[in-house]
Amino acid sequence: MAFPSLSEVRSIPRVTVVGAGNVGSALAKRILDRHLADVVLIDVVAGRPQGIALDLTQAAALEGHTHSILGTNDYDDTANSDVVVVTAGKPRQPGMTRDDLALVNGPIVMETVRQALARSPQARLIIVTNPLDVMAYLAWQVSGLPPRQVMGMAGVLDAARFRAFIAMELRVPVSEVSALVLGGHGDLMVPLPHHAAVGGIPITQLLDTGTIQRLIERTQHGGAEIVNLLKTGGAYYAPGAAVATMVEAILRNRHTILPAAAYLQGEYQQQDLYLGVPCRLGLSGVEAVVELALTESEQAALTRSAIAVQAQVQQAMTALGAKSMAVVG
Ligand code: NAI
Ligand code: 2OP
Repeated sequence: MAFPSLSEVRSIPRVTVVGAGNVGSALAKRILDRHLADVVLIDVVAGRPQGIALDLTQAAALEGHTHSILGTNDYDDTANSDVVVVTAGKPRQPGMTRDDLALVNGPIVMETVRQALARSPQARLIIVTNPLDVMAYLAWQVSGLPPRQVMGMAGVLDAARFRAFIAMELRVPVSEVSALVLGGHGDLMVPLPHHAAVGGIPITQLLDTGTIQRLIERTQHGGAEIVNLLKTGGAYYAPGAAVATMVEAILRNRHTILPAAAYLQGEYQQQDLYLGVPCRLGLSGVEAVVELALTESEQAALTRSAIAVQAQVQQAMTALGAKSMAVVG
C-alpha cells in the first residue's frame, strides 16, 4: 500500500530555506525540532542540501521529528511554500565593507527571491542575508509582494544577545530577562535599556550606567565577537533559533510582538526603508508595526541608524542598476 508523501498532504505547512550553509542548516534543524513545518532546503552547491537533509532525516527517529525535509538544487521542489527564508550569500570577509558585501549578496538575494516566489507567489518572505536591512529592501523590490509580507531577521537575534549579556551580568536565568533592540543590523543598532527588565524590574534600577553601556556595546558588536572567536564564518545557532521564532509566530498565527526589519512608511519618522522595529507577526506576515514612545536620544539614535541604512540602500541600488530590480513574474 502506497502512502502519500508528507508534502502531498498540503494542510502541512512548508518552509523553504534558501542557502544550506551554517545558518540555513541550523534553521532547518530548529524548524524540525519545533515541529513547525516540512522543510525544503535549497542551495546552489550540488549535494550540500541533499546531504544535510539526509543527515536530519536520519536524526528524526532519535529526535521525534514529525515533519519531512527535502534537500534540492531545483526550485520546482520549493513550490507552494508558506514561508521562504533567504540565507544565501557570502559572509563579510576581512577588509570588506558593508557596501562591498551588498554588491556581492544583492544579486544573489534578488535572484533567489525571484526563483522562489515564482513557485510560491503567496509566501511570506524572511531575509537573513547581510547587510540585512539593505537585502530586505532589495528583496521586497523584486518580490512584487505587499511590504507586510516581506521582513528581515535581526532584532530577535540582537535582543537575544542583549538578554544573554544582561543575564550573565546579573546571574539570573535568561528566561527572566526581556529586552528590545531597534534599528539597522549594524554597529548603529539601538539597544533600549529603558525597555529591558529582569522579572519586570527595569535594568536601569539594577545596573549602573557604565555597566549598561558596556552591555549595549557588546550587543552592538555581538556578531563580530563570534566571528573573531570562530575565525571562519559567523554565528549560526542563535540566528537559526531567531528565524525559527519568527517562522513559528507566522505559521502558528501567534500575533507575537517581535523586533523585525519591516518596511516603514512614516512610522518612527522613517520613510521607504526597512529598519528594525517592534512588529506584530502572524499568518499574514507583519500584521502591524508597533510604535513605542521613544525618548529624544533614543529617536536620535534610531534616526542615525536609519540614515546609515538609507545610504547603503542608495549605494546598492545605484551600483546594481535599475534593470536588476525587475520584479518577479
Ligand atoms: P554560509 O557561507 O555558511 O552559507 C551560505 C550558503 O549560501 C552557502 O551554502 C552557499 O552555497 C549558499 N549560496 C550562495 N549563493 C547561493 C545562491 N545563488 N543560491 C542558493 N544558495 C546560495 O553563511 P552563513 O553563516 O549561513 O550566513 C548566511 C548569510 O546570513 C550571510 O550573509 C550572513 O552574514 C548572514 N547572517 C545574518 C544574520 C542576521 O542577523 N540577519 C545572522 C547570521 C548570519
Ligand atoms: C551576526 O550578527 C554576522 O549578522 C551576523 O551574527
